[in-house]
Amino acid sequence: MAVVWKDEYSTGEPEIDKQHQILFKYLDDLEEHMEQGIDASYVSNLLDNIGLFTRSHFCYEEICMRRTKCPIASKNKQHHTKLLNAYTQYCKQFETEGVSNELVQKLHDFLESWLVNHILKIDTNLRACL
Ligand SMILES: [Fe+2]
Repeated sequence: MAVVWKDEYSTGEPEIDKQHQILFKYLDDLEEHMEQGIDASYVSNLLDNIGLFTRSHFCYEEICMRRTKCPIASKNKQHHTKLLNAYTQYCKQFETEGVSNELVQKLHDFLESWLVNHILKIDTNLRACL
């Protein structure tokens, strides 16, 4: 089911909120693609795009937290590093095992739960720093 944006996800920084919504949209794309039947080259492109966008989003957010002296800035960066490591492992698994519905589903569910939890527990701390 599509991830629905809620007001409680807002960080108070419009660009970051927009980027989070784009990440949600990427998750919906992954999900839609599973329903339509897997196209390995499409999924592999999508995985590249998600990786690139996520890296640039994390940089933007980390700079914003440092600039506003948000006390959670270094914890945020640590979470981001862990996520990127996990994402790289998934990408390696796709390379070795090939693209399957099961693996796409597993990655989708992992990213969705990570993102929602991370936004609520970490990113929304930014509201108090702006
Ligand atoms: Fe974050």
